[in-house]
Amino acid sequence: MNNIFDSHAHYDSEAFNDDRKELLGALQGQGVCGIINCGSDMASSLASLELADEFDFIYAACGVHPHEAEGCKQGYLPVLKKLSSEEKCVAVGEIGLDYHYDFSPRDIQKTVFEQQLVLAKELDLPVIIHDREAHEDTLELLKRYKPKGVVHCFSGSVEMAKEIVKLGMYIGLGGAVTFKNARKPLEVAAYVPDDKLLIETDCPYMTPVPHRGKRCDSSYIPFTAQVLADARNSTPEAILDLTRKNANKLFGLEL
Ligand code: NI
Repeated sequence: MNNIFDSHAHYDSEAFNDDRKELLGALQGQGVCGIINCGSDMASSLASLELADEFDFIYAACGVHPHEAEGCKQGYLPVLKKLSSEEKCVAVGEIGLDYHYDFSPRDIQKTVFEQQLVLAKELDLPVIIHDREAHEDTLELLKRYKPKGVVHCFSGSVEMAKEIVKLGMYIGLGGAVTFKNARKPLEVAAYVPDDKLLIETDCPYMTPVPHRGKRCDSSYIPFTAQVLADARNSTPEAILDLTRKNANKLFGLEL
């Protein structure tokens, strides 16, 4: 069945340099119907659009990741606006806050995040949010700007998930739910309403157990779907069906 919709991937990563085309060419035969490839700066946003141009089932998100906020802050906005207006760009992302690594100063992360929330509104596009150890500030900004979109690789509490759902946003869950220490993500997995769940890889990272440590790609999603199904008293096929439906709805696609 072709019902794997990977809502968050980075196939422009150099981890795929040796076999990108062959790998992507084979994924549809392994059940993958759609992929959102997320940019993290202007170069990777452009690379995402190029992959989307080449493969029908790949769409792009263009944006500046909090890690790159410091490096991108000068003059990126008109470039991003142009890239985000391309036909195969279906979201602004990934954008947000990362207080775990703090690779960019927090005030700059916030400024760049807010500028992109405004841009997404202007272009009527959903956002793909990265929030690592920045739950409070992320939630505050989402409440202020009320974007459509998804909080990817969700790592907050059930209480925060409820706030996100109340805003009408989606919760993206990936390989982290399969890790041994995954208590909180599993509580969230059990809670998320059927119509607000997305599944993702964040590949080449976050490879699900039992393949943790290997390079990840979208064909590993069934391992994550199995764990989500267990947490929700459902089946992997039902999880894949509903996350496919939700991703199509959020990104305005029919894959
Ligand atoms: Ni990512």
